[in-house]
Amino acid sequence: MNASTLAGIAQALEIQPHHQDWHAFVQRVETHGSHLHALLFSLYGQREDFEAQFTRILTTTARAWLERPADLKRLDAEREINPRWFQSEQMLGGIAYVDLFAGSLDGIRAKVPYFKELGLTYVHLMPLFKCPEGNSDGGYAVSSYREVNPSLGTLDQLRDLTRELRANGISLCLDFIFNHTSDEHEWARKALAGDPEYRDFYYIMSRAEADAYDRNLREIFPDQHPGAFTPLSHWTGTPANNAPSDPWVWTTFNSFQVDLRYENPAVFDAMAGEMLFLANAGVDVLRMDAVAFIWKQLGTICENLPEAHTLIQAFNALSRIAAPSLLFKSEAIVHPNDVAKYIRPDECQISYNPLLMALLRNSLATREVNLLAQAIQSRSKIHSDCAWVNYVRCHDDIGWTFSDEDASLLGINGYEHRRFLNQFYTGRFENSFARGLPFQENPKTGDARLSGMTAALAGLEKALADGNEFEIDLAIRRILLIHGIILSFGGIPLIYLNDEIGALNDYGFREDPHKAGDSRWVHRPVANWADYDLRQTTGTIQSRVYSGLRHLIDMRKAQPALATGVEAVETGNPHVLGYAHYHATGPLLVLANFSERPQMASAQTLHQQGLSWPAIDLITGNRVALHEDVALSPYQLAWLRPA
Ligand code: GLC
Ligand code: GLC
Repeated sequence: MNASTLAGIAQALEIQPHHQDWHAFVQRVETHGSHLHALLFSLYGQREDFEAQFTRILTTTARAWLERPADLKRLDAEREINPRWFQSEQMLGGIAYVDLFAGSLDGIRAKVPYFKELGLTYVHLMPLFKCPEGNSDGGYAVSSYREVNPSLGTLDQLRDLTRELRANGISLCLDFIFNHTSDEHEWARKALAGDPEYRDFYYIMSRAEADAYDRNLREIFPDQHPGAFTPLSHWTGTPANNAPSDPWVWTTFNSFQVDLRYENPAVFDAMAGEMLFLANAGVDVLRMDAVAFIWKQLGTICENLPEAHTLIQAFNALSRIAAPSLLFKSEAIVHPNDVAKYIRPDECQISYNPLLMALLRNSLATREVNLLAQAIQSRSKIHSDCAWVNYVRCHDDIGWTFSDEDASLLGINGYEHRRFLNQFYTGRFENSFARGLPFQENPKTGDARLSGMTAALAGLEKALADGNEFEIDLAIRRILLIHGIILSFGGIPLIYLNDEIGALNDYGFREDPHKAGDSRWVHRPVANWADYDLRQTTGTIQSRVYSGLRHLIDMRKAQPALATGVEAVETGNPHVLGYAHYHATGPLLVLANFSERPQMASAQTLHQQGLSWPAIDLITGNRVALHEDVALSPYQLAWLRPA
C-alpha cells in the first residue's frame, strides 16, 4: 500500500501515526489492502478518479476502525485466533421479529433467559431499522441504517442488547439490506426530487431504457408491479403519459424499495460506512440480503453476475480490515449452482441452505428421498472454513429451488414437479396433509411459491381441525424429523422461533390492508406466550414438539462429530435417507424414514459402505445392530454411534 495514501488518510482523520489503533489499521491494510484495491479496481478501475475513490473508501474504513469499541476489538482478536468459531456442535440459531416476538428491543432482552433455555448461541433479529409506516416489506425497506425503528427502541438499547447477548454466549445477526433503500431514505428522497448527486445513487432511466433491461429480467414480486420498474411519477405526482422518454425507477421488489446503483463508487463508499456502523454497534453476523440482485448489466438477467461477487468480496475485505470478527451470511435463494458461488472464506463464510430446506419438504410430500440423497451427494460440500446455515423455515416464501438438471437425472420433470409441490402444499392435491398458501402466483409463467408455518405445512393444522389424534402424532413426527435433520447436518442449525412450540398459521394478516396482499404474513405470527407456557405442561402439543426438539438439541450439543460436513449413505430403501459424519471421535450415521409406514434400512447396503458395527441410537438410547436390517418406525430419525 502506498505510504503517502495512508499518511494522507491519517492527516485527514487527524490521527497521530504512532497511535496504537492506527498502527493496527496500517498492519491490516498491509495484509488486506492490495486485495481490496484489486477488487475495487476490477469494478471501478476504468474511471479516471479511481485512486481518489479508493482513498475515500479506505478513509471510511479507517474512520470505522478508529471508532470501533474496545470490547469489539478484543472480540476481533479472539476470533482471528479461532476463525472457525462458528463451526461447533454448540451452535444453534433462532430467528425472530422484534415486535412480534417480544414487542421491543427491551422485550427481546427480557427473553434472553428463554434463548438460553432453548440453547441458542445465535439470534437473527428481523430488520429493526427505521422504515416506512404501513407496508415496509417487514422492515426490508430501510429508511436509515443508523436509526432503530422508534417503535422498537433506540440505538443505545440495541447496543445494550448486543452486549447482553454476548455476555450470554449469543451472537447477533442482523440484515444488511444493501440492494435497495426505502423510498423514504434521505438519499432516495433527494434522488426522487431530482438532486443530481443522489440520482446517481439509483437507477432512474427512460421507459425505453427500462424496457431494454426488462426484456431479460425475472419478475420477483409480480403482484406488486409488472417488470422491475416503477414510474417516477409515482413519487412526483406528475402524470405519466406513457411516453418512451418518461422516467422510471428500478425497484426489483416493491415500489417503495429502490435499487442502489453500485456502478457508482460513491454508493459503495456510502454503504461501506453503513455496514461498518452496524458492525460497530456489536452485530456479529450480517445477513447479506438479496445478494443475487446487487449488480445490474444490460442484456443479462441481472442476477448472480460476477460483479455481484466482486462487490461482496470487497465488502468482506473492508470488514477484514475494520471489523475482522464480522461474518457474512449469504441470502441467495436461487439455483444451487449460484448459491454455492457466494460461499467462500473471502466472500460469505456462511450461507442459507435453501436446497436442503426445499428438499426436506419435497421428501415429506413424496415420501421419497431421491432428490435429497442426490443433493447430499453432489451439492453439500463447501470450503472447510465455511458453513451452511440449515433451516426448515424462515420468514420468506418457499421457492422450489432445486436444479432441473439434477431432477431430470432422476426422471423428474422440474416444471411439473414444482406444480405438484405447490398443489400439495396448498392442500389442493388429494390427500394432502398440508395447509399452505400460494405466494406470488404468476399466471404468465405458471410459477408460484409457498407460504405457511412449519406446523401447518407438516399437517398439524389440518389434523387438529379434524380432531384426528393419529394424524396429529404423524404431524409432530414430521416436524421433529426435519428439525432433527438440520440439527445433524453440520453447519449452523437455525430455528424459526414459534416453530419450536408447533405454532400454526396466523390468518390475521388478511384483516390488515398493509399485509393482506402478501401471504408471507401467514407465517409471521405474534408469539403467544400463553402457548409458550404450555411447553411445560406434559401432553400438550406445545410440550410434545418442544420437548422432542429440546431432546434433539441436547443430543446434538454432546456430539462434536455433528459440527462437521456430511457424506451421503445409501440405505437400500427409497423412503429412508442416510448420511454420515466421519469424525476423529468416530463415525455418526443418520437414518431418516420419510414415510408414515415402518421401513427398513438394508444391512447389506450399509455393510458395503463400511457401516457395520454395533451401534447405539443417541435419540432413543436403544442398541441397534447394523449387521441386521435396521427397522425404523414412521418418520423415525436415528443418530447411530458405535456402541
Ligand atoms: C430478502 C428478504 C425478503 C425481502 C427481500 C427484499 O429476500 O428475505 O423478505 O422481501 O429481500 O428486501
Ligand atoms: C428474495 C425474495 C424471495 C424470492 C427470491 C427470488 O429472496 O425474498 O421471495 O423468492 O428473492 O430470488
